[in-house]
Amino acid sequence: MDIIQAIQERHSVRAYTTQKIEEEKRRQLQAVVDECNAEGDLNIFIRYDDPEGFDSRMAHYGSFRNVANYIVLAGPEGRDIEEACGYYGERIVLEAQMLGLNTCWAALTFNKKMVQKLIPEGCKLCMVIALGYGENQGTAHKSKPLDQMLVSKGTMPDWFRKGAEAAMLAPTAVNQQRFQMGVKDGEPVIRIAGRGFYTKTDLGIVKYHFEAASGRKVAE
Ligand SMILES: Cc1cc2nc3c(=O)[nH]c(=O)nc-3n(C[C@H](O)[C@H](O)[C@H](O)COP(=O)(O)O)c2cc1C
Repeated sequence: MDIIQAIQERHSVRAYTTQKIEEEKRRQLQAVVDECNAEGDLNIFIRYDDPEGFDSRMAHYGSFRNVANYIVLAGPEGRDIEEACGYYGERIVLEAQMLGLNTCWAALTFNKKMVQKLIPEGCKLCMVIALGYGENQGTAHKSKPLDQMLVSKGTMPDWFRKGAEAAMLAPTAVNQQRFQMGVKDGEPVIRIAGRGFYTKTDLGIVKYHFEAASGRKVAE
């Protein structure tokens, strides 16, 4: 599976089987986590075989079931890490999808008290991502019309269309899709549009989808 297929086939999955993640897959995911931490100056780690992170009333309320593994998005205290956690977290999500695993971002519906205990001193927790073999592959989210997301109308370069379509497939908190895309001085630009929860993390996720599909770096 290539990254475009992973972008198309990824949907949030909240119910998991008890199948363990194989050592080889853990090694491959770790290599990506190490790259993300080095590049993004973050402290992301994966917790395996530990159901406590999603063992809470909130997690059941969010309809999570059998979550035994999760990616913990964390970074240095005193820095705004939300967008970086979105960007690098989604890079790990798509790698997991290519390995035949499923995921679901969780900002709220997990056991924050338990996960907080795992965070090293000097670091802060951003959010987590459930990881494992899904009971199903999830379903495609409803999407806003693409032209509603564009800063300017008119013909789009081919690379921009590819990036924009991939951006529309990105997960966003409560599927809010609060962002706008455009081209400035020949380079892609993506901005938060309007107010919402976790829009900075969403922005990082969306930028990663756009870049992976278009091959173009989104301006800061
Ligand atoms: C930043 C962020 C936070 C999220 N938090 C939660 C959460 O707390 N609980 C939950 O069940 N889903 C959560 N989600 C999953 C979204 O509801 C889901 O991505 C969205 O509905 C789009 O569906 P899709 O991922 O299947 O494309 C979150 C997603 C993102 C990107």
